Amino acid sequence: MKALIFVSLLVSCVVQAQFHPRQPAQYWPLPPLRTRASIQNNWTSERIARIPKLLKKYGAGAWLICQREHAEDTIWWSVKNATDFDAHRRTVLLFHTNDSSLAELRRVLDEYHPFRIVLNTDEDIAFAGGLHVGELAVLQRELGEYWTNRFVNEPMVAVEFVATKLPTLEYYRIMQENVWAMLEEGFSDKVIEPGVTTTEDLSWWFREKMQFLNISTWNQPRVSVLVEDSYPGWGGTEDVIEEGDILHIDFGITAMGLDTDTQHMAYVLRTSGAEPETDVPDSLKEGLRKANQLQEIVLGNMKPGLSGNTVLHQSDWGHDAGSVIGFLNLPEYVPVLGELPILPNTYYSVGLYAYHFVPERNEAIRFRLEENVAWSDESQKWERLSHELENPTMQA
Ligand SMILES: *[C@@H]1O[C@H](CO)[C@@H](O)[C@H](O)[C@H]1NC(C)=O
Ligand SMILES: *[C@@H]1O[C@H](CO)[C@@H](O)[C@H](O)[C@H]1NC(C)=O
Ligand SMILES: *[C@@H]1O[C@H](CO)[C@@H](O)[C@H](O)[C@H]1NC(C)=O
Ligand SMILES: *[C@@H]1O[C@H](CO)[C@@H](O)[C@H](O)[C@H]1NC(C)=O
Repeated sequence: MKALIFVSLLVSCVVQAQFHPRQPAQYWPLPPLRTRASIQNNWTSERIARIPKLLKKYGAGAWLICQREHAEDTIWWSVKNATDFDAHRRTVLLFHTNDSSLAELRRVLDEYHPFRIVLNTDEDIAFAGGLHVGELAVLQRELGEYWTNRFVNEPMVAVEFVATKLPTLEYYRIMQENVWAMLEEGFSDKVIEPGVTTTEDLSWWFREKMQFLNISTWNQPRVSVLVEDSYPGWGGTEDVIEEGDILHIDFGITAMGLDTDTQHMAYVLRTSGAEPETDVPDSLKEGLRKANQLQEIVLGNMKPGLSGNTVLHQSDWGHDAGSVIGFLNLPEYVPVLGELPILPNTYYSVGLYAYHFVPERNEAIRFRLEENVAWSDESQKWERLSHELENPTMQA
């Protein structure tokens, strides 16, 4: 018995090509690990080279990051070499705006005498609050009052450091298209047999597929069946996928220090009855259309300089460093994170839902979607990129 599964993105493709390639998504290989490491280190060098300018922008003379193995500062992961997997023993990083040679921290500080020293001690913003309490105690004891009086919390240094774009887009596109290709394959009768396949089976199919593609993840794929009075989202249960089910997935992949985060919905066609369905009910397509429209509204309102809360307010309605435009549990105003400005040249993930009444189920359903990349006609020109990937000079 064959069952066709329609994934939301097929519908969004028709309605808003911007969020999805018009052609079926393809799998694209990423370069070998050694080349990936070299590319990543080049990105890291570029990111580090921006620090002096960033410190000047926030009126700071130095940025002191102190950590131990297994208690790394959040920022460590954006500074480290691609071949580092932890901070060995105690690792102290001092970025400053005065270029000369380095030695012992105290001596260096005495030499450069920065006036305001940024420490990652923010209470609300994870990216700017990575200094462990034991490390702070060590710094206070070792550096004494003279230097500790100059410690300041300037969270935007860490936020901008992490959030400002690097030339990652061509690889990010590959990753995002791989995500869509996985969704198209995973939510199809190649993988799902209604009445047999469970949500956990599908979740692990995604994990195996990542293994096959030489990519990893930063969270377990969460596949769920929409049940009455719930919104699509992982309930932690293992359910058998049946015809007529509405499915939701929230998953991301990791490669080259980059993460994706995508949510899509799917409908399992009823094909075994007397009148087999050949298409998704119009009510569901309409709900998706509404959610797509909301994505457009949020994108349209995201202007550099505005706070996340302002955009939220304008839109009536993200995980990375930077401003947050509403959380599911804070749909009207987000303290602290929502007040951060939208930065130019940064990455944003648009994750949201729109309510739509579905007569077939006699309830309003949340159509919950998330995208990291908005596709345009321009970004669908793959010839150049595919040529580069086949070119052996790409091998390190
Ligand atoms: C990294 O940068 C160096 C120096 O600019 C360059 O020679 C090398 O090809 C780059 N690596 C990759 C993989 O692009
Ligand atoms: C990473 O380590 C390699 C090997 O030691 C070195 O050549 C490279 O410059 C380092 N890159 C960064 C960004 O630290
Ligand atoms: C930079 O460091 C040198 C010592 O290497 C010091 O003489 C100079 O005053 C410092 N500049 C500033 C602006 O702190
Ligand atoms: C995964 O890595 C292996 C070993 O390097 C390679 O042979 C294979 O082609 C890679 N698979 C994909 C889909 O890139």
